[in-house]
Amino acid sequence: IALYQQDGRLKGKRVMISAGGTVEEIDPVRYISNRSSGKMGYAFAQAAAEAGAQVTLITTSLRSVPAGVNVIQVASAREMQTALTERFEVTDIVVMAAAVSDYRLAEPASQKMKKQPNQEHLVLDLVENPDILADLGAQKTHQYLIGFAAETEDLIEHAHEKLIKKNVDLLLANDVSKPNVGFGHDTNQVTVLSPNAEPIVLPLQDKLALAREILNQVADQIAEEDK
Ligand code: CTP
Ligand code: CA
Repeated sequence: IALYQQDGRLKGKRVMISAGGTVEEIDPVRYISNRSSGKMGYAFAQAAAEAGAQVTLITTSLRSVPAGVNVIQVASAREMQTALTERFEVTDIVVMAAAVSDYRLAEPASQKMKKQPNQEHLVLDLVENPDILADLGAQKTHQYLIGFAAETEDLIEHAHEKLIKKNVDLLLANDVSKPNVGFGHDTNQVTVLSPNAEPIVLPLQDKLALAREILNQVADQIAEEDK
């Protein structure tokens, strides 16, 4: 099977994709994470490679990697941020599909935390993680940034706020309260927001089909700008 289009629409473009839920250590045996499977990011990696791009996948997930994709394995949000920031300057397109933990332990314990006698409540002290996408948005020059928004209510309003606040070019809004949408599923349904256009509601579809459709749209926009 011809996996790559030698003259694909993203030929020569460098694409960086984050995938999976970040892992924030509590102690040597426990962590904080979330329900992200990584499937959406891996679908983007495959679609970008098929389109002829040079793809780097920065992931917490251990799924099998699409052919031709360069992988960097990370765990925490801060490791993910370092990996993305290091390569940002030479990147053309970023897809921030990872589910980044908003908080981490202020001080992870160096030894396994023991149960204390008569202690019925345990409070963990959390501090905010960096907002990786917002930081990339603040420092971008030529890069095209794609972000996600996972919402359970007021989808468009919340997603629009993220689009503007994080300075992204395309925001894919996920209503994760709907069946078969987002976390863990093979399918996804998004509404596409961009700065100067009305929101576009895409149908529920396979994550790979969705990734191909979005990257096609991005290739159109880049071709338009290069004219
Ligand atoms: N994101 C990020 N760094 C964070 C949190 C989120 O880069 N610390 C990215 C996600 O990868 C996603 C986008 O920002 O592409 C939106 O993530 P989401 O969790 O929906 O939004 P938040 O800004 O974290 O706001 P909240 O969770 O409060 O809705
Ligand atoms: Ca969040």
